[in-house]
Amino acid sequence: MGKEFPLTPKKVAKVDTKYRRIVTDIPAPESVPLLEKLRTNEARSMRGQPPVIWDRAKGVNVFDPYGNMWLDFSSGVLITNAGHGHPDIVKAVVDTAGRSLLATYCFANRERAGLAEKLVQIAPEPLKKVFILSTGAEATECCAKLAMTWGQKQSKSKNVIVSFEDGFHGRTLGAQLMGGSAALKAWIPEAIVKSGCFVNVPYPDGFRQTDVSFAVFEKALKSAGVAPDNVAAVITETYPGGSCKFLPVQYAKDLRAWCDKHKALLIFDEVQAGFGRCGKWFGYLHYGVTADLIACGKGISSSLPISAVLGRPELMDQYEPGSMTSTHSGSPICSAAALASLKVIEKEGLVDNAAKVGAVLLSGMEKLKDKYSDVVGMAAGKGLVASLQIIKPGTTEPDGDLAFDIVSDCVEQGLLFFAPVGRGGGSVKIAPPLCITEDAVRDGLGVLDRAIAKALAGRSVPAK
Ligand SMILES: Cc1ncc(COP(=O)(O)O)c(C=O)c1O
Repeated sequence: MGKEFPLTPKKVAKVDTKYRRIVTDIPAPESVPLLEKLRTNEARSMRGQPPVIWDRAKGVNVFDPYGNMWLDFSSGVLITNAGHGHPDIVKAVVDTAGRSLLATYCFANRERAGLAEKLVQIAPEPLKKVFILSTGAEATECCAKLAMTWGQKQSKSKNVIVSFEDGFHGRTLGAQLMGGSAALKAWIPEAIVKSGCFVNVPYPDGFRQTDVSFAVFEKALKSAGVAPDNVAAVITETYPGGSCKFLPVQYAKDLRAWCDKHKALLIFDEVQAGFGRCGKWFGYLHYGVTADLIACGKGISSSLPISAVLGRPELMDQYEPGSMTSTHSGSPICSAAALASLKVIEKEGLVDNAAKVGAVLLSGMEKLKDKYSDVVGMAAGKGLVASLQIIKPGTTEPDGDLAFDIVSDCVEQGLLFFAPVGRGGGSVKIAPPLCITEDAVRDGLGVLDRAIAKALAGRSVPAK
């Protein structure tokens, strides 16, 4: 995080395999003027990704205009669950646009009706009403609004939302108040952060927070001065995006029981975890608990911007007609894309594929952790999402520079990652489209192995 990939073309070895092709220097010299134009005109914050110009993308591959082809371990940023450019999704978008239907606000359209029905059908009980939005942050903010509204109806002081220290829920004000990174909240006036309405507790990852018992949750609330009955909701990412480490199942069950006891809502942020990513339709189903609300986004459409909140009907129906809307709620083209994507995930068995191929991915990641145990502190994930925590030897401190070098080398070998994420930019994260094969995952893991070895070669930390 915070690092810029250089735009000076670097000589790299040519690659020509079934999944990857690199025929130019990286970045491709011809791409540099366009990349520079972006740097001239856009906010600096947009410079964070490897310098690859996406020209087209198909299945598990991303192509630039200069003859290079990457095996994609990013899915953009966990968007393209059904694979890049799936013909059914392209057709749904083209057909809708071809009818000259581009926007409808909250007027009804058939695409939105079809999507709402499908989402309610695949969502587990008791999540039987939906509100469609455009971005993940809008969905998590909406969960906060529904929870706060509901809580304050019980009692004016039931107005605390508890979330986790490693959590990320988007970049808007409410989403960042729920988020667990102090650095990301640095811009928010202290009076707001310390209002007492948003409280972070430690996330039991078993790595940086070694006591994974639920007692830590209760203790943290107590030391923050929060009375349990004042908690309106607890929101957690199904797994923290930075570490991909799921909650211990017993912790999740204890959390559900605690929420029931104190009449607090339990909200899962499924923006990353949903729609098959973790080998189940919704990632939180790995915990065997129910949710009161879930926020969805990213992989919902495998393409266009659309998100959703799914929840218990009595929570979803709190607002009067016209008082909880958004201009692009249920845009016909985005809805058509999402409905097509959900049908592809179903028809092609991609949830099961994520579970099956994900086992190969995780075991490969664990082998890398064992091989490079001085600098890989943790390998974690489920289904087709996983990450390696790159650390400074002998510590749990992230080594963002090493993670950056590893990702850069992978990109030069034709394996596409987004920039490292998480604490100190130390997390190298893998999230390929769910249509990937075991063979392609093994190919990518081989590239990652070579990249770690190479990045370490100039440093004084040997592989085991
Ligand atoms: C878990 C989680 N929640 C919310 C968001 C915010 O989604 P968006 O960027 O679509 O607003 C993200 C985005 O990375 C996310 O990973």
